[in-house]
Amino acid sequence: MSDKVFNDIWNRAKHIASPYMPKEHAELLYRTTLQNPGTIVEIGSWHGRSSVILGSAVKSSGKGHLYCFDHWNLIEGAECIMSQDIWKIWNDHIAEWQLQEVVTPGRAYSQKAVEQWPADKTINLLFIDGWHEYLESGPLIIPAGDIKEYGIEGWLKDGKMIPPHKHQPSFDRGAKVDFDVWAPKIETGGILVMHDLNPDFPGVLKVWQEDIEPSNEWTIIYNENNIGVAQKSK
Ligand SMILES: C[S@@+](CC[C@H](N)C(=O)[O-])C[C@H]1O[C@@H](n2cnc3c(N)ncnc32)[C@H](O)[C@@H]1O
Repeated sequence: MSDKVFNDIWNRAKHIASPYMPKEHAELLYRTTLQNPGTIVEIGSWHGRSSVILGSAVKSSGKGHLYCFDHWNLIEGAECIMSQDIWKIWNDHIAEWQLQEVVTPGRAYSQKAVEQWPADKTINLLFIDGWHEYLESGPLIIPAGDIKEYGIEGWLKDGKMIPPHKHQPSFDRGAKVDFDVWAPKIETGGILVMHDLNPDFPGVLKVWQEDIEPSNEWTIIYNENNIGVAQKSK
């Protein structure tokens, strides 16, 4: 693949808002997907910057499919309403990029999504970029800073708006959950990519350091610049 092909994709993708997906990470995702075509799964999609990168690689490779799982703020029967509609934004990006045929969203939280995944369907490449704590199980309390930053109005449930602190869904979330429920679906020889491996996200790093680095089930292919790639070796 020429650099020009990726650069053209990046020059469009960089305008999609992303908490942290620089060009080097996008290029790693793109090239790793091209080298490992097939069933690609993304946990955590936000506005879709990484989704369009992965989806473009699937399209370029001419085979396989990308499944993107994110709750996009719809959690346990209520939708967290903020100043931006992230579900619509993600869908608009996929449509603009004409990726609908190769990308399917699953609007669910990671642990629930896996329950609907066919038991015998294996994954060629799993990209984990969801909730960045290690493991949380209690009620989801939205910090005041987030309420302000994202313009959160409250939870829309049964047509009624509930103040943010009056609805606190309780579900297992975190990099440990994403890894534990999804990594077993990766086929032997398949690839795991974990994003945000840095001390700002000790929970994500902990999963990498405890479940990947010392394990003879995984061979580390790349671990630099806050992103890691490992291959399932057995
Ligand atoms: C860091 S952002 C993803 C950024 C995206 N990969 C990109 O490159 O722009 C994390 C996303 O994970 C989603 N998320 C957080 N916890 C989740 C969970 N338990 N299940 C599914 N999605 C989750 C959030 O809604 C958010 O969109």
